[in-house]
Amino acid sequence: MRKHKLLIALITFGLTWAGIVGAEDKPIEEQLVDAMNKVFGVHPGFRANHAKGIVVEASFKASPEAAGLSRAVLFSGSSVPATVRFSDATGIPTIRDGSGDANPHGMAIKFHLPDGSDTDMVINSLKFFPVATGEDFRDLLLALAASPPGAPKPTRLEQFVASHPSVPAAIATMGTPDSFANEEYHGINAFIFVNKAGGRQAVRYQMMPERVVHMTAAEAAKQPPNFLIDEMQERLKRGPVTFYLGAQLAAAGDPTKDPTKPWPNERKVADLGVLTIDKVVPNSAAAEKKLLFLPGQLTDGIEESDDPMIGIRSGAYALSFSRRNP
Ligand code: HEM
Repeated sequence: MRKHKLLIALITFGLTWAGIVGAEDKPIEEQLVDAMNKVFGVHPGFRANHAKGIVVEASFKASPEAAGLSRAVLFSGSSVPATVRFSDATGIPTIRDGSGDANPHGMAIKFHLPDGSDTDMVINSLKFFPVATGEDFRDLLLALAASPPGAPKPTRLEQFVASHPSVPAAIATMGTPDSFANEEYHGINAFIFVNKAGGRQAVRYQMMPERVVHMTAAEAAKQPPNFLIDEMQERLKRGPVTFYLGAQLAAAGDPTKDPTKPWPNERKVADLGVLTIDKVVPNSAAAEKKLLFLPGQLTDGIEESDDPMIGIRSGAYALSFSRRNP
């Protein structure tokens, strides 16, 4: 059993990892959540990252092309209900939606399949990730925590960024949208589609809106603190929001375990179908507490690639969930 699966099982049964491996040898998932708590503070009841969000209801209708790529029931062509949560980055539940720190924005989707199971997709508005591994992400967070305003120069963050050029490159790909609906969201980590004949294809998700609208930092700073959350509520009273789900198809040799390396733009993007968002759930704050989106919660026909970050993410999300629902 892989380590993250064991971690999720332990959390589910209310056991602690420390009792098994000793507190000095914490698993990377725990080190990551602890590092997030260090940077963002501990906010009981809230997610360690992407603490502020809004939950909405949707349905997904797959394209015929999707069924050829993956045998997943999700892609069979019938309409599948889904729960979606849009979010701001950071573990700060009161962050201003227009703050630069609220980027990247997140979109988490739980598709409710006909057999009663779920398959999840947890994506954000970065085009690629700032670092390649869970260990590097921990080190980036720790460097951030060790570099408050006024820290002696070069700060630990400056040193980390100088040796990891993918950090500024990734940050340059994001902006503040004028609406959660006017943003594109990326899967970043690669997944494997398995079709009916057993054929395997590495993919990266792209969730594309009707249009992308980004504001300047000055415009974003002038917005009310909750403008993205409020705008989504108002927009859905006027009508549904549409997204187009695509899968960028890897060619032989494209890296599947380095999320800092986007695949070439000329790679085909297959049309997987349309996601239609209809309404805000009646009590979003209560709903989001109970929701746990896991990047590794997948139905038959969709598998994790060889990128270990997916498993580490699932372990960290489960741990964050157990801490916010003690
Ligand atoms: C090693 C890398 C990563 C770690 C350790 C990590 C960790 C976390 C944690 C602990 C949470 C809170 C989960 C909860 O309490 O339910 C979270 C939320 C989230 N993360 Fe990550 N993350 C990583 C990479 C990514 C990547 C690559 C993406 C996008 C492709 C992403 C998108 C999101 C989103 C959208 C949420 C909010 C989920 C929700 O609405 O419940 N994360 N992350």
